[in-house]
Amino acid sequence: MPRTPKRIGVLTGGGDCPGLNAVIRAVVRTADIDYNTEVVGFIDGYEGLVENHHRLLEQRDVSGILSTGGTILGTSNRADPFNFPVLQGEEYVKMDMSSQAVRNFESLGLDALIAIGGDGTMAASQDMIQLGVPIVGVPKTIDNDLYGTDVTFGFDSALITATDAVDKIHTTAQAHHRIMIVEVMGRNAGWLALGAGMAGGGDIVLIPEIPYDIDTVVETVRLRSSLGKTFSIVVIGEGARPKGGEVVVKRRVANSPDAIRLGGISHQLAAQLEGLTNIECRVTILGHLVRGGAPSPFDRILATRYGAESVHMVMRGEFGRMVGLHGRDLEAVSMAEVAGKQRQISLDHEWIKVALSMGTCLGNPSSVTLDEYVKV
Ligand code: F6P
Repeated sequence: MPRTPKRIGVLTGGGDCPGLNAVIRAVVRTADIDYNTEVVGFIDGYEGLVENHHRLLEQRDVSGILSTGGTILGTSNRADPFNFPVLQGEEYVKMDMSSQAVRNFESLGLDALIAIGGDGTMAASQDMIQLGVPIVGVPKTIDNDLYGTDVTFGFDSALITATDAVDKIHTTAQAHHRIMIVEVMGRNAGWLALGAGMAGGGDIVLIPEIPYDIDTVVETVRLRSSLGKTFSIVVIGEGARPKGGEVVVKRRVANSPDAIRLGGISHQLAAQLEGLTNIECRVTILGHLVRGGAPSPFDRILATRYGAESVHMVMRGEFGRMVGLHGRDLEAVSMAEVAGKQRQISLDHEWIKVALSMGTCLGNPSSVTLDEYVKV
């Protein structure tokens, strides 16, 4: 019989989001209170495991962090143990440091690792599992695009920030009779843009899943003008692109497994819209703002549930699995199934249907069905 875990590791990987600290707190408390088990936190995600940077986490270390953004452990979106940037002379060279990570894990006498992260962290974790490291995953990301769960923690908090921004932009748009474009993060999925657009009453919402037809966007603005509405609000996801066009790349991050950083599509759209409608256009890019701040009550509860459940999963020996939310219930899903996949908004998702029923323009012409439009 395998021994009861007495020492477990925890790390936070990938881009930060509100609620990471709430998970860490839940892991430490559950491990100590329910199982008298010690927790070791790795610094800066998998970087800490490769470089053996860690600290013991006791209950006093996680006191007061439930409501704070960021992560007390730090994070990194460059630290894939199998593709790890190592400085050689003046340059970074990618090396497979996975065996060193395994050695560090073993030398610390750890029985399991809880990896809190998004798709990149889950993919790296899946590879570590193949090397025999017993890992349980916890899904985070403001993008809400992780496969295997209905919701990631962090999304709700980001949605609140983005909606607040759209609300505030509304009043200035009205006052100046302008087209106001609010760009939000969400690399491959439009959950945040669509959510904030729906909650904030955006007139036009453009998401990566539906490449937009500029003529349809212009028509929508003109129709609003003809109805006496002198302003329009556009909410656009950073990964949106015009039909037949490309996403706008802001920068490339050396050493990052997914090097491309998006941002700036709204400037392209603003220039086009201003030219075609003769209405002044202004752009607000929310960027990392949506990743900051205190987690919402929903995210605090979800993160706490995820953290506690991940420890229970460790104790039940459910390794190679990620805790996910399905409906109202927590369920363990196979990490092999989650790794490398993304959960975009499907075209028949209720949010899409409801947005269209509200008269929101999603960038698709009404002359063809959404399916046909996106397919062609
Ligand atoms: O995946 C989360 C996310 O915030 C994306 O929405 C965004 O494209 C990316 O991370 C930004 O990454 P970075 O913090 O490296 O700029």
